[in-house]
Amino acid sequence: MVPRCWFWWRWSAWPRTRPPFAGSTPTPGLLQQFSTQEKTPQICVVGSGPAGFYTAQHLLKHHPQAQVDIYEKQFVPFGLVRFGVAPDHPEVKNVINTFTQTAHSDRCAFWGNVEVGRDVTVPELQEAYHAVVLSYGAEDHQPLGIPGEELPGVLSARTFVGWYNGLPENRELTPDLSCDTVVILGQGNVALDVARILLTPPEHLERTDITKAALEVLRQSQVKTVWIVGRRGPLQVAFTIKELREMIQLPGTRPILDSENFLGLQDRIKEVPRPRKRLTELLLQTATQKPSGEETAHQALASRVWGLRFFRSPQQVLPSPDGRRVAGIRLAVTRLEGVGEATRAVPTGDTEDLPCGLVLSSVGYKSRPIDPSVPFDPKLGVIPNTEGRVVDVPGLYCSGWVKRGPTGVIATTMSDSFLTGQTLLQDLKAGLLPSGPRPGSVAIQTLLRSRGVRPVSFSDWEKLDAEEVARGQGAGKPREKLVDPREMLQLLGH
Ligand SMILES: Cc1cc2nc3c(=O)[nH]c(=O)nc-3n(C[C@H](O)[C@H](O)[C@H](O)COP(=O)(O)OP(=O)(O)OC[C@H]3O[C@@H](n4cnc5c(N)ncnc54)[C@H](O)[C@@H]3O)c2cc1C
Ligand SMILES: NC(=O)c1ccc[n+]([C@@H]2O[C@H](COP(=O)([O-])OP(=O)(O)OC[C@H]3O[C@@H](n4cnc5c(N)ncnc54)[C@H](OP(=O)(O)O)[C@@H]3O)[C@@H](O)[C@H]2O)c1
Repeated sequence: MVPRCWFWWRWSAWPRTRPPFAGSTPTPGLLQQFSTQEKTPQICVVGSGPAGFYTAQHLLKHHPQAQVDIYEKQFVPFGLVRFGVAPDHPEVKNVINTFTQTAHSDRCAFWGNVEVGRDVTVPELQEAYHAVVLSYGAEDHQPLGIPGEELPGVLSARTFVGWYNGLPENRELTPDLSCDTVVILGQGNVALDVARILLTPPEHLERTDITKAALEVLRQSQVKTVWIVGRRGPLQVAFTIKELREMIQLPGTRPILDSENFLGLQDRIKEVPRPRKRLTELLLQTATQKPSGEETAHQALASRVWGLRFFRSPQQVLPSPDGRRVAGIRLAVTRLEGVGEATRAVPTGDTEDLPCGLVLSSVGYKSRPIDPSVPFDPKLGVIPNTEGRVVDVPGLYCSGWVKRGPTGVIATTMSDSFLTGQTLLQDLKAGLLPSGPRPGSVAIQTLLRSRGVRPVSFSDWEKLDAEEVARGQGAGKPREKLVDPREMLQLLGH
């Protein structure tokens, strides 16, 4: 192990080589607001998803000389924008253009293939930088905690999404879609993404950035029915109206909603906030109204169905007779207790067995602790913080899903990350960050080299990007994602 402070004496020999920020004109007088020692803060961001990039963007925009280095464990940047957002939602991925602009700043560097906590520790980063921002997202799935969860044929939605989106660690998943029925547990937007990808006619996915391997498996799929199961009722679904509408209009499919679940709802929706009201009205209309002529024709042609099952909580995964894979799921019938946000599902004592060949658990993502030196709340799965300041660790900040938990869209993550950036700059101005120069990436690069870690730069990513785009062109796809890290290294000549 390299001694903790070895780079201090080396640092004095390193010149500052980076040119001043060429990508923007600093606001007049902005620099004068900072005292001499805060004029060239070295800041490091861990994670290159929306939180990492939006935090970097804020820091670069509001501090005319800040240097921001982004460390990322994958070879490629952009986090869930690349590995989460559904392939048939290309417009959402346009944020990559903004992130690329940030990465092109002379005062920003991207270092991929560096796993913080493994290749370099958080205390080592803290010694090299004036401030460290942890924006490493929520990489695990929330376990169900029920018997049979480990059976073949039970997958987390996180893994399934990673597979169709080309996440290297999930590239060999090949889910078995030879069954008739799939059960998805959870009624959030990820559940709808997964249901939509399972049911969309494969020819409609051909021109997206879904991986070739996933498209092949989907082409062979025998799945006819997808149940999306929620432990609470129609008024508590976690998905949003746009995504529900897409499901209702999905070619070749028909929704099944039990009108019994909607009894009395018409009166209750008057009291709920407008977005929830509109969403529930659409559900209610789909469940209870006769489809229009056009919709009837659309539904008559449907060869696949999807349905929402309410008031059902997963209790046990049922094995096949030989015990080798999933054959169904036992659901506890529930009723609601409490009011408003505090409404809880409690079991009535009744159960229902639902036969299926694949269970996809979509009950949320979960952050991991990154380093023993960083406080972590295992119950909430977040780094305890006040406005982005990690509690009791001066100079350490957090943003995004690891700051506030695994919910919220990219826009929410953006506002949250800007706030963390603002907090950090306030602390800098108030003299709360270490004074004197810090070596930044120069020290960390040397440290990584001594450990045999070879980071990839943003221009390396741009080479991989060009290769992906070229590979996709023949098939009319925006890109064919590279999924094998060894191949990526070969392409980079590493
Ligand atoms: C399946 C799915 C689909 C979604 N679709 C949409 C959508 O259509 N529209 C929308 O607005 N929002 C969508 N979201 C929400 C959106 O993706 C999140 O709000 C956002 O990505 C959270 O940003 P983040 O930076 O906190 O986390 P992430 O995007 O997960 O980024 C975290 C980054 O940190 C890196 N990292 C992790 N550990 C380490 C480590 N130890 N060292 C270095 N790097 C590390 C990861 O590789 C990753 O690149 C979706 C979410 C999911 C799960
Ligand atoms: N198109 C998009 O904009 C898009 C796409 C994908 C994701 N996202 C965003 O990404 C975030 C994460 O999405 P998500 O779907 O993973 O999470 P989510 O929105 O939090 O939904 C999780 C679902 O799982 C259920 N659940 C949780 N624990 C459970 C348990 N133990 N047993 C049974 N059900 C359980 C929840 O029910 P309860 O409500 O009863 O807890 C809820 O229905 C969300 O903010 C989402 O909007 C956006």
